[in-house]
Amino acid sequence: MAKVLITRALPGSDVERLVAAGHEVTVLPRTGPPDRAALLAAVAGYEALIPQLDETIDAAVLDACGPQLAVVANYAVGFNNVDVAAATERGVWVGNTPGVLTDATADITWTLILAVARRAVAGDRLVRDGRFDGWSPDLLLGQDLHGRTLVLVGPGRIAAAVAERASGWQMQIRYVGRQRKAEFECRFGAERCSLAEALASADVLSLHVPLNEATRHMIGAAELAAMNSTAILINTSRGPVVDELALVEALQRGTIAGAGLDVYEREPALAAGLASCESAVLLPHLGSATHATRAAMARLAVDNVLAALAGEPLPHPVNRIASPR
Ligand code: DGY
Repeated sequence: MAKVLITRALPGSDVERLVAAGHEVTVLPRTGPPDRAALLAAVAGYEALIPQLDETIDAAVLDACGPQLAVVANYAVGFNNVDVAAATERGVWVGNTPGVLTDATADITWTLILAVARRAVAGDRLVRDGRFDGWSPDLLLGQDLHGRTLVLVGPGRIAAAVAERASGWQMQIRYVGRQRKAEFECRFGAERCSLAEALASADVLSLHVPLNEATRHMIGAAELAAMNSTAILINTSRGPVVDELALVEALQRGTIAGAGLDVYEREPALAAGLASCESAVLLPHLGSATHATRAAMARLAVDNVLAALAGEPLPHPVNRIASPR
């Protein structure tokens, strides 16, 4: 029997599998923002930890858990909140939840693309505020997407699902990636290009990179200035990939036509001025927020914990451990 700490209640019934396997499960009563002091105080003595993407699992937290900690099964596909090197050094597995949130995140990407291009949220506000005084030839005109260029930065699973959906609009697909991706070229007729070429050619630029030191502020003032004034920026990856203050300035000046964001640099806080940018559509990190997807993420996190506690390799590992605990 091992002790498992889940830092926030998870949807679905998979946690019961931990109990059925004889493990002792504690779920913290967290309902609001992460509380670092409470986390540090709670983790001592657990063999397995299932944290949330907004909780920093660094060396201090790993050490506060103690030397018996075997696995950190992050409840997210992104794992920038976990110090993977520190975990690996300590012989602790790190796992994530890949694959199951691909479609939901691609759908929210398209929700943002369409909402920004067709000014859907501004229209909704106008109607609700009682400012809709009838059809007008120039009311809230937006952009056509048909035949335009969609550039995907970070050609992984989610970008592929976004590209697949773009066929409905017969969009030209380009991608920015460290390596050529045969799948993108064969399935979507996509062309690989540099970031500079992407910025100059995109009608829609959609970000799908993990957050790391190479991607932090990948889109800043210079990159925004290199985009077309009719272009739309979409970010469903991680907030710090975009310099949010530079984006606010670009939106205020009309350097680009609009932005759709699901993630923020200092989430949940917004950069000054962002909330009043009319051409931005802002969602509260809903990428994976469907009932089925969130339950599937819990299933994968539990699978990772069960494997580690049985001394087996994780089905969804982020690191490689030479001699697991
Ligand atoms: C993840 O899993 O990394 C997503 O951001 C959750 O929506």
